[in-house]
Amino acid sequence: MKRMKVVLIFGTRPEAIKMCPLVRELKSRPAEFETIVCVTGQHREMLDQVLDVFGIVTDHDLHVMKPGQTLFDITSDVLLKIKAVLEDERPDCALVHGDTTTSFAAALAAFYLQIPVGHVEAGLRTRNLYSPWPEEFNRQAVDVISQWHFAPTETSRQNLLDEAKPADRIFVTGNTGIDALRHTVREDYSHPELDWAEGSRLILITAHRRENLGEPMHRMFRAIRRVMEERPGTKAIYPIHMNPQVRRAAHEELDGFDRLRIIDPLEVVDFHNFMARSHLILTDSGGIQEEAPSLGKPVLVMRDTTERPEGVAAGTLRLVGTDEDVIYREFSRLLDDPAEYAAMSHASNPYGDGHASERIADILAKELG
Ligand code: UD1
Ligand code: UDP
Repeated sequence: MKRMKVVLIFGTRPEAIKMCPLVRELKSRPAEFETIVCVTGQHREMLDQVLDVFGIVTDHDLHVMKPGQTLFDITSDVLLKIKAVLEDERPDCALVHGDTTTSFAAALAAFYLQIPVGHVEAGLRTRNLYSPWPEEFNRQAVDVISQWHFAPTETSRQNLLDEAKPADRIFVTGNTGIDALRHTVREDYSHPELDWAEGSRLILITAHRRENLGEPMHRMFRAIRRVMEERPGTKAIYPIHMNPQVRRAAHEELDGFDRLRIIDPLEVVDFHNFMARSHLILTDSGGIQEEAPSLGKPVLVMRDTTERPEGVAAGTLRLVGTDEDVIYREFSRLLDDPAEYAAMSHASNPYGDGHASERIADILAKELG
């Protein structure tokens, strides 16, 4: 049997969390795959945290991150720097993930070199190019380029069929993010921050979306603070993104309130265990919307749109937008109304059974073999 050369390209925290299980799966099958890992370094500390947790050693690192990087910087740096790597490696297939600028630029580079692309987490859609921005464009563009679409759910498969993507190129695999979750949550987990929150209802917060930078983010933080100041039995932990713009807004609105702690980004094992012990989650993140249903944790999604309707249908997610009064009202309601809380707290697995990586590896072996 021919041994296939696969290059996996990623660069941000969430891509790493969802690609590392696949890297490990492909590397565990050396007779079938030669597995090359290329990171762009769109993120630095937040990427390296994940690589360390999964014990992944990279073959190529493009080191593109710079403070305050623009979409122009990331796109052009990745595109130009990855050319030599792909020319040198000449893989049978390049795998990219999701909807970041790394994914888009890497897929474009592979296309220019006529290297077939496989898209992990294909077919997510809001159909609004500005929400999330620029991710909706990135994911649609990557799906135009890709030969293999690894769709996490039936809904994402249908989205691709609606765009006339050939049915035999679409594979429903589940989301590889759930593969990671299977190994992280532990009964006996403890952490000093959780000791601090013991006896209170723990609210977990994250925020980073580009379209929310500026006033929308200030509105979110003001709403959260108002609700929590009125309810002494709550404590919040906010592992903050490293983007200086996010940090500035958070410190401006949330400093001086001692029941809310802003801490550095948590390693993924810690974050998953914090989720598992939280009362509810407030976020604009994508990946957290997939993980929370498995853990049965209610999420208020501080965005106007979601590409994860499965979690809304399961009852775990509620879209609350970025209006201060709406977030204030919905967050208060979820804390004060036990029936409402119970209705959102059921565990379900709309994003897969934790075996997505094996399925993707099997499909690649068949398709490339
Ligand atoms: C990126 C992705 C977004 C994804 C998010 C996950 C794009 C356009 N955006 O957005 O889709 O949801 O990652 O978190 O691809 N920084 C550090 N260290 C790090 C990471 C970031 O210092 O480890 C700082 C840098 O100053 C950097 C800034 O954060 O310039 C923004 O990072 P960037 O990757 O451009 O945007 P994100 O908002 O992280
Ligand atoms: N996460 C983490 N540490 C943190 C916050 C989040 O490991 O301090 C994980 C989380 O469990 C999820 C992923 O990071 O798997 C989400 O990343 P992010 O919100 O940055 O990006 P998005 O999913 O919105 O693209």
